[in-house]
Amino acid sequence: MTELLTWDDQTAQSLQLPLLSGAAREHGIEVKMALLNSLQQQPGSQIYMPFEDYMQFCLYQTGLGYYSSGLHIFDEDGDFITSPSMGKLFATSLAEAIAPTLIAFDGHIVEFGAGNGALAVELVEALVARGCDIKQYTIIELSPTLMQRQQQVVAEKLPTQQAMFVWQDSLPVDNELSAVVIANEVLDAMPHCRFKMVDGAPKLLSVVARDKQLSLDFCKTLSSQQSELLAPWLTYWQEDNIALPEGLESEYSPYMPGWLNAIEQSLDTGMLFLVDYGSVAREFYLPQRLGGTFICHYKHFAHEQALLYPGMQDLSASVDFTAVAHFGLAAGFELVGVTTQAAFLTSVGMLDDVAKQQRQQQMDNKLSDEYRLLQETKRLLMPGEMGERFKVMLFGKNISDDIYEQISGFSHQEISDQL
Ligand SMILES: C[S@@+](CC[C@H](N)C(=O)[O-])C[C@H]1O[C@@H](n2cnc3c(N)ncnc32)[C@H](O)[C@@H]1O
Repeated sequence: MTELLTWDDQTAQSLQLPLLSGAAREHGIEVKMALLNSLQQQPGSQIYMPFEDYMQFCLYQTGLGYYSSGLHIFDEDGDFITSPSMGKLFATSLAEAIAPTLIAFDGHIVEFGAGNGALAVELVEALVARGCDIKQYTIIELSPTLMQRQQQVVAEKLPTQQAMFVWQDSLPVDNELSAVVIANEVLDAMPHCRFKMVDGAPKLLSVVARDKQLSLDFCKTLSSQQSELLAPWLTYWQEDNIALPEGLESEYSPYMPGWLNAIEQSLDTGMLFLVDYGSVAREFYLPQRLGGTFICHYKHFAHEQALLYPGMQDLSASVDFTAVAHFGLAAGFELVGVTTQAAFLTSVGMLDDVAKQQRQQQMDNKLSDEYRLLQETKRLLMPGEMGERFKVMLFGKNISDDIYEQISGFSHQEISDQL
């Protein structure tokens, strides 16, 4: 069975990545076998799986996918670090933006893809410290394993607020919800179609299985479902005058338009905060980015070998925020604002919070805490780290004028004219 990982071992060695060993290796073999089975491979034949299905399998397949198998993925020992996992500054700043408006949305927060539960815990702590009355905190999570982990973290860290938490795997379609909805680094973790422009049209990437080996191929013709999911993107590129040069390799998020639609439909009134790494279309499809934005992360090492360690490494792609604005508006949302993460966090006063904490740490002679705080600040704000690469986009539905006036976060910089 171990020969199933021969290509992975060689590729990992060439990238100077650690080889899988022990239980991780057994898990890697189990995922590879399940993947090959689901490709229904027979000796000698070639079986194709659309890349978006491969990504779905690698990330979310029950018990096997990267987010669904209980792997340790979110911090220094894992594969990547998200803003809430670094410390409390991100959540505290988000609380500052949400607090004045929460009452207008029935004190209800909905968080998509809560990962290790850090944002939920830190946000509730920060809102409670500001005297906010949170009636309900709903977490929508696809991965049952992560859901379980979030439930444990909430029980441990917020025993007195535990009762306000509700977990679901999708939003109810009832058109009556009043809520502040948050999705931090969720759009990048949705399955993506990868394509290459050939003769003026996108050819989609597939994973091919041949004799128990996987490879990538752009040759597959589109299935009817793929054509259906591609159609809104063709309309978007055309309506927004986005030229996709011949030979360009890039990606699009086939389920994102439907996801935005579903959220808009379940809301009677609300705000939707989207935070993710990405850029506006004019930068997203730049000739310098001919290879696209798709990226893999394993033990904090970024590379482009999508077939390496299926289910054991993170797969993601940058967000085209012009597309998010296009599909959000098409769904019926109003675009309230878009800006960089650094501009958003500083607009809501994060640096005042940092200065206050720093003074206290110096008075208490807690030098290592001060060092950690400054490191966190740097990572959240520096242009080369998350400050510029990450954007914050806010949509609204049926927001009254007085609530509109309370919305902070876009006063330092607002870039919707660049979309
Ligand atoms: C990169 S992690 C981000 C985790 C967390 N938001 C954070 O900031 O630390 C992506 C998360 O999104 C979840 N996810 C992806 N697509 C989703 C969807 N359509 N609905 C709900 N959760 C989703 C994953 O299961 C995972 O929890």
